[in-house]
Amino acid sequence: MTAPPGSEEARLAGLVRAHDRWRGREVFNLLASENAVSARARKYLSSDLAGRYTLPLEVNFHGETIDNSYTGTRYTDQIETLANAAAARVFHARFATTRPLSGHIAALSALAPLLPAKSRILAIAPDEGGYDGYAPGFIPALFGYTVRPLPADGPGFTVDPTRAAETIHRERPNAVVLGQSFFLFPYPLREIAEAAHAEGALVFYDASHVLGLLAGGEFQDPLREGADVVFGSTHKSFPGPQGGILFTDRDDLFQQIDPALVWRVFDNAHWNRIAALGQTLLELERCGAEYARTIVANAQGLGRSLSDLGVPLVAEAQGFTRSHQLHIDRPRLEATAHLRAGALARRLERQRLLIDLVGRIGTAEVTRLGLQPNDMPRLADLLVRGGLRSERVGREVLVWRKTFSGLRFA
Ligand SMILES: Cc1ncc(COP(=O)(O)O)c(C=O)c1O
Repeated sequence: MTAPPGSEEARLAGLVRAHDRWRGREVFNLLASENAVSARARKYLSSDLAGRYTLPLEVNFHGETIDNSYTGTRYTDQIETLANAAAARVFHARFATTRPLSGHIAALSALAPLLPAKSRILAIAPDEGGYDGYAPGFIPALFGYTVRPLPADGPGFTVDPTRAAETIHRERPNAVVLGQSFFLFPYPLREIAEAAHAEGALVFYDASHVLGLLAGGEFQDPLREGADVVFGSTHKSFPGPQGGILFTDRDDLFQQIDPALVWRVFDNAHWNRIAALGQTLLELERCGAEYARTIVANAQGLGRSLSDLGVPLVAEAQGFTRSHQLHIDRPRLEATAHLRAGALARRLERQRLLIDLVGRIGTAEVTRLGLQPNDMPRLADLLVRGGLRSERVGREVLVWRKTFSGLRFA
């Protein structure tokens, strides 16, 4: 049904169409926090599930068993079971839930039931690439946690194993929360977990940024390396619908987390999202290894090409990255090009190249489009001409972008 001409409905329809055209066909998206959802997963997002409720068949909490309050859920329940099983297989975890509504909600879902009020946590500070949500005024303030910094001051905000262990033994926290928004290199997780477990602390691994890499066996293997609970967003390097996920090998921890999700953290878990997430998990079960390998090869190739063209990037001596991210060295950019990262991003946006305002460049979505390492010199050239030399490359970008249709690894 078409909207009445001139109405707000028609205007809304036009805006969504314009957005879809612009973001879906006319730009290269290098935002490290985003990705493109496969056609089938998008179909599930707009399926009838979008308006439905269900609760688990039974909720065991405080010893009570409560039947599902809703009828009509015979397929919904099976969809969730299938998605959770796919998650457990993809991440080689004994227990997994696709219910958390986002990465942030997944963090709340893990921390709240396992850490009582007044718990002490160690987390990487935002000025060393950590996630703002773990800063004192945010998640810790909700639950009365004290948060102290785990140092991440090595090249590219890396964590030194000796200093991490010293900090853990000195601070004797109840939990160490790993994971960064600026996330280039794997953690020395075995050393961190050994120190944390010796102090009786749990190790949480926020994989929001690197989840797609973990799904393909790249970056690191948190559960095997000592993390107790892994959780994160499903829409950054992981190419799923916006949402969250959580997995662990520990039955004792999962039995405290899973029953506490419903009614403490949320009620409806959004079953259209879970169907779409299940689909993405199945896609990555098939071709996640090649997807993850190509993302990292693209990021490393783009790093080399940008650096050769004079773009200052962090961690050059370390090969720039082991993830989907590259970080512009902001002080050097300001010193050499007299340009702030935000101004660079705005300039590039006008040329149909999207990076974020804080100097991160991500290769997950362009890898989904089909770009390969041998495309990276051309991409770097466009970024440098459009961003540093203020050339009008938008037309060239558009012509190249139009040669990619559909998504790979889907
Ligand atoms: C490390 C980290 N954790 C959690 C989040 C929050 O994720 P979401 O937007 O899915 O709630 C982010 C968002 O950027 C993040 O970088």
